[in-house]
Order: sequence, then structure tokens, then C-alpha cells
Amino acid sequence: MSRHHSDHDHSLEALREALTPEFWDERYAGSDRVWSGNPNQRLVEQVADLTPGTALDVACGEGGDAIWLAGQGWEVTAVDVSEVALARVAAHAEEAGVGDHLKLGFYDALADPRPAHRHTFDLVTVSFLHVPVEDFPAIYQGIAEAVAPGGRLLVTAHHPHDVTSGARHDHGPGLLFEPDRVLDVLGAEAPDSAWEIEVTDTPTRVQASDDGPFEVRDTIVRLRRRA
Ligand SMILES: C[S@@+](CC[C@H](N)C(=O)[O-])C[C@H]1O[C@@H](n2cnc3c(N)ncnc32)[C@H](O)[C@@H]1O
Repeated sequence: MSRHHSDHDHSLEALREALTPEFWDERYAGSDRVWSGNPNQRLVEQVADLTPGTALDVACGEGGDAIWLAGQGWEVTAVDVSEVALARVAAHAEEAGVGDHLKLGFYDALADPRPAHRHTFDLVTVSFLHVPVEDFPAIYQGIAEAVAPGGRLLVTAHHPHDVTSGARHDHGPGLLFEPDRVLDVLGAEAPDSAWEIEVTDTPTRVQASDDGPFEVRDTIVRLRRRA
């Protein structure tokens, strides 16, 4: 049995409603802290061998990743669809003393999939932005466009295995994805691809919950735009 049960409507319209400012503002306003505040383990692992430069954190949430990156010497821009979340990132960045190294912006992937100007960031990272299959190509191509020549795109997501294993409720068909979906929409495996594939991985990790620890699997893709 699935760990989380609900009777969600999985129509495209319903899935898109879960990507609106209203939905996320309400979710963030309903709790002082929705996420842990810590950076994602996968980001920390994947950034370890990179030289700090400019970074864009797409769908930054409460800013755990963005604030950590700023503390590591990156000049960070963090964007999200929720102004409530962005205000929280600003406050946490000030508390952490990295406010001068972090810019914030509103980004609605459904309204305009491009979060920034073309080819501008040394690192573009997006963690756990799960969108309908129909919207996936435009959104992930739009996000990838922001990577500068020689820069990296890092995508971290929940792997679909979490649904079949019962670790995670199915929030909609195809919302979770494997590395291949990212490679496909960016044409990363084509002979003349603009991308060099640096990492595709699906490692597991143990997550705590009220019912005790359980195992989850991540999708990780790290690409480098050829200079
Ligand atoms: C699962 S949270 C992940 C937050 C953060 N990346 C992290 O790892 O803690 C998904 C984030 O996507 C944002 N989001 C949802 N729909 C969006 C949209 N249409 N455009 C941009 N961001 C969106 C939400 O506000 C939320 O902060």
C-alpha cells in the first residue's frame, strides 16, 4: 500500500492547478517552514567539484539550496512561483549573512518556461520541479536555455520507482521522471548535441518520517553546455 493516500484528480487541468501561485502561496503560508532549510544532498554532492560562479536556482522554494550556494561563494539568483516562498528566502538569506549574494525573482514555468535570459548562468539547478508530461519539454528546455556556454545544468527529481515501491503517493501519471526524459527533451545524446553528459544517476537515500525511515530514489542529471 502507498505510504500516502489521496484521491487526487489527475486531469491535466488539475495537475496544472498544482503549479499555480495560489496553490503554492497557500501551501507556504500554511506553515512556518515546509522544507528542512538544509541544502539538498544531491546538490551538495554535484557542486563539490565546480568552481563558484553565477547560479540560478529554479523553483527554489524556501531557499535551502540557494542560500547554501551563496555561502559557498556563488552569486545566486533564486526564482519561484510563490511570492510567500521568495519573501521567506529573503529573510533567511539576511539571517545567514548572504543577502548581498542572492537575488530573487518571480518565475511561473507554465506562463513562460524561460526563467532567465539565454546562456547566462554558470550553473542552473532545479530540484524537485515535477510537471505534467505535456509541459515537460517546454519547461525543461526553457530552464536549460539559461545555461551559459561551458556551464552546467543540474536536475534533481524524485524517481518514479518511489511510486511503484510505495514510498511515495502517485501525484499524477508521469510527474516523476527518470534521467532519460531530461536527456531526450534536450537531445543530449545526439551526435551534434550542445550538451556533454556528465552525470546520470538514480541513487537511493534514506528519508525520515513519522512512521520511521524509508528508502527513496532520486533522479540526477548533470549536463555541461559545450563552450
Ligand atoms: C517540491 S518544491 C521544491 C523546492 C526546492 N527546490 C527544494 O528542493 O526544496 C517545488 C517548488 O516548485 C515551485 N513551483 C511550483 N509550480 C511552479 C511554477 N509553475 N513555476 C515555478 N515554480 C513552481 C513551488 O513553489 C515549490 O517551491
